[in-house]
Amino acid sequence: MADPLHILAARLQAAFDAVAGRTGVDPVIRPSEHADAQANGALALAKELGRSPRDVAQAVLEACGGLSGVCSSIEVAGPGFLNLVLDNSFLAGELSTVATDERLGVGVVAPRKVIIDYSAPNVAKEMHVGHLRTTVIGDALVRLMEHLGHEVIRENHIGDWGTPFGMLIEHLLDLGETQAADHLSLGDLDGFYKQARAKFDADDVFKDRARARVVLLQSGDTETRRLWKLLVDLSTKHFNAVYSLLGILLTDDDLMGESAYNDLLPQVITRLDALGLLQQSDGADVVFPPGYTNRDGDPLPLIVQKGQGGFNYATSDLACVIDRVERIGADLLLYVVGAPQAQHLSMVFDVARMAGWLKDPVEAVHVSFGSVLGSDRKMLKSRSGDPLKFIDLVTEAVARADEAIAAKNPELPADERARVARMVGIGAVKYADLSTDRVRDYVFDWERMLSFDGNTAPYLQYAHARICSIFRRAGIDRASVASTTLSVVEPQERDLALKILGFESAILDTLERYSPHRLCTYLYELATAFTAFYEHCPVLKADDDAIRASRLALCDLTARVMNRGLGLLGIDAPEQM
Ligand code: ARG
Repeated sequence: MADPLHILAARLQAAFDAVAGRTGVDPVIRPSEHADAQANGALALAKELGRSPRDVAQAVLEACGGLSGVCSSIEVAGPGFLNLVLDNSFLAGELSTVATDERLGVGVVAPRKVIIDYSAPNVAKEMHVGHLRTTVIGDALVRLMEHLGHEVIRENHIGDWGTPFGMLIEHLLDLGETQAADHLSLGDLDGFYKQARAKFDADDVFKDRARARVVLLQSGDTETRRLWKLLVDLSTKHFNAVYSLLGILLTDDDLMGESAYNDLLPQVITRLDALGLLQQSDGADVVFPPGYTNRDGDPLPLIVQKGQGGFNYATSDLACVIDRVERIGADLLLYVVGAPQAQHLSMVFDVARMAGWLKDPVEAVHVSFGSVLGSDRKMLKSRSGDPLKFIDLVTEAVARADEAIAAKNPELPADERARVARMVGIGAVKYADLSTDRVRDYVFDWERMLSFDGNTAPYLQYAHARICSIFRRAGIDRASVASTTLSVVEPQERDLALKILGFESAILDTLERYSPHRLCTYLYELATAFTAFYEHCPVLKADDDAIRASRLALCDLTARVMNRGLGLLGIDAPEQM
C-alpha cells in the first residue's frame, strides 16, 4: 500500500482507537487545500468522550507521536481537524520503492473468479455504435481485474439463437451458400438481415418456411445446424475483425452465445416448477419476482416459456446464471449491458435468487451504461440515418488522428505516423467513452475527443510521448534511472509524487463501482501534475547532478504510470507522436 493517505489512515486509526479506548474508530482522511491531508474524526469522537473536539484532536496528535517519519507537521485546526503535512523524505522513500517495483505500487487482492459478459453483438447484424460502450468498458474491466489478480473469464454472449434464424437461413438458401457468403463477408450484415426481414413480412410462403426452419433448428436437424453455423461463423469473422482492429481481447474462445445454453433451457423450467415458482399467466409459464409492476400497477411476470413451448431471452439468461455459478463456479458475474436492459437483468437476478441459483457470496452486477448521442442529442446516426457502423467509426477516428498528427509533427515518417494514428484515433474513441461516468449518456464529439488539450486520450498520450522524448533527445537510457535515489523538494514535485503514489488507490476506487472514468480522472490529474512539475522544475538543466537524476527518475516513473494506466484502459501509449 503506497498511497500516503492510506498509510496516514492506518497510523491515525491506531491513535484514534487509543484515545477512544476502543477499536473501530474510523477517521476520515481527505486531501486538503491547507495541507496534504486533513483528518476529521475528533468531532465525532468528542461527543462520545465528553471532551472538546480540539482536545480530542490534541490527544490523538500526542498518541501518534506526531507521526514522526511520515509527517513533517501535524496541527490541530479549526473545530478539531488535524492538518497533516507529509514529510518530504518519507515521500521520497515511498517513491523510490514504487520506482523499483514492476507493479508500480499496485498490490494484488484476494482473487475472485469473475465472469465478465460484454460486447455481445447479434449474429447477422452489423456491430454499430450501440456496441461501443459495452465492448470498451468490458475490456477495460477485464484488464483491470486481471491486473489485480482476479481470475477473469470473458464471455461474449452473442445473440445467435431464436426465431430470426428461421428467416435468415431460408434467405441464405434462396441466395445460395456461395453468394450469401460473399455478401456477408463484404461486411454487409445489415443488408442481409433487412432482405430476409422484408421477404418474411411480404411473403407468406417464405414466412411458413422460416417458421418450419426454426423448428428444425431447435430440434437439432444436422443440415439446418450446418447452415446456422455458416451464418454464425461469417458474423463472428466480422466481429473478430473489429476486435482486432480495436485491440479488444475477445476471441472465438470467449464466444458463449445464447445458443450455448440451449440444452439447459428445459432444466430451467423443470427446476423452477419443482421449486413451486412457476405460474401460468396468459397461457405462458412465468415467475413473479416481488416488487415489479406494470403501468397499471399489476404484478409483472418474468416470462420463461411462451404459449407454444418457446423459450426466450429470459430463459437463456437464467440458464446462463446456472451455468456460470454451477459449472464454472464463478463468484462474481458482471454484465456490461446497456441501461435499457436494467429491468430484464434485475428480474433475472431476482428469479435466480428465489431459485437459490444465485446466493451469497456469489454476486451478480449489472454494469449499466448510458447511450452515445449525436450532436442533436439523439442516438448517433450515420449520414444515411442508420446507426453508425462500428467499423466506420473506427476508420474515421484513425483518419482524423492521422491528420491531427501530421499537423502537429510533420517530421514523423509516414509509416510511423500511420502506426501512431491508429493508437491515437482508437485511443481517443475509447477514452471519450471511458472518461464519462458510464451511467450517463454522452455526446459523441470528434473535435473534443481528438483534441490535444483537456481530458482526452491524445493529451495523455502526448504527456507520455513528451517524457519519452526527453530521454530520447538527451540520449539517456530510461532503464538506468529507475534505481536512482529520489528526492522531493519543490511543491510541484510533491504534488506529482502524491499523484504517483495514489495509483493503486485510483485502481481500487475504479473497481469499487466498475467505473473506468475514475481511472481516467486520475490519469488526467497525473498529466496535469506532470505539466506543472515540468514547467517549474528544470530537469536536464537542473542545478546539480543529484537533482537532475532524481527529476529524470520522476519523469520516467510518471511515464510508466501513465503507460500502465492507459494500458489498463486498453489504450496504447506511443513513444513519439
Ligand atoms: N445480445 C444482447 C443484445 O444485443 C446482449 C446480451 C447481454 N448479455 C446477457 N447475458 N444478456 O442486446
